Amino acid sequence: MIIAVDGPAASGKGTIARALAAHYRLPHMDTGLLYRAVALNLLRWGGDPESEFQALRACDFSQIDFADPELKSETAGGIASRISVYPAVRAALAQRQRDFAGQAGGAVLDGRDIGTVIAPHAEAKLFVTARPEVRARRRFDELRQRGVTTHYEDVLIDIRARDDRDSHRAAAPLRRAEDAHLLDTSDLDREAAIAAAIALVERARA
Ligand code: DC
Repeated sequence: MIIAVDGPAASGKGTIARALAAHYRLPHMDTGLLYRAVALNLLRWGGDPESEFQALRACDFSQIDFADPELKSETAGGIASRISVYPAVRAALAQRQRDFAGQAGGAVLDGRDIGTVIAPHAEAKLFVTARPEVRARRRFDELRQRGVTTHYEDVLIDIRARDDRDSHRAAAPLRRAEDAHLLDTSDLDREAAIAAAIALVERARA
């Protein structure tokens, strides 16, 4: 069984995807990390995010440690969103994701275009979302816990900018697949969101 979990930044899709993977004992891939890895490579090489060619050259995972905490930074996320508009970058990362989705026994993948582009044949598709203010609050709390000083308003501006870029790009924009189940986590706590996600997967499988 392939489970596709898509949604905007800080919607809870990562938490939900990990919980589904544990529940169904499936391997999980956070596909945002691939885009973040390209962003980090580019940053470390002093490359220009405005250059599709340089971004494509940064699609080299031989130097990347996927446990590097810098991958989770707001800077890496922002650059990831910028370089993810390039079709050449998306194409360079697609095969790795399709191979992961195609492994025997299935997989859970979360991202922006799993249900629409990477695994349109997935048995279960969730589109996880939440109001921008709620997502900004979550991201703000998470940053504060990590000791990053920031303002809620700035986080909200960032979230809106990212939503806008991810949803309006020409190549594989963030959108709900027609057959994806919508899960709004705005008014749900972690446990309730996970329970709702499992219920939706069960419905999709039935
Ligand atoms: O999910 P995330 O915040 O780690 O993703 C970072 C950026 O990577 C996101 O703003 C857009 C891009 N991305 C994408 O274009 N397609 C994916 N499947 C996953 C992420």
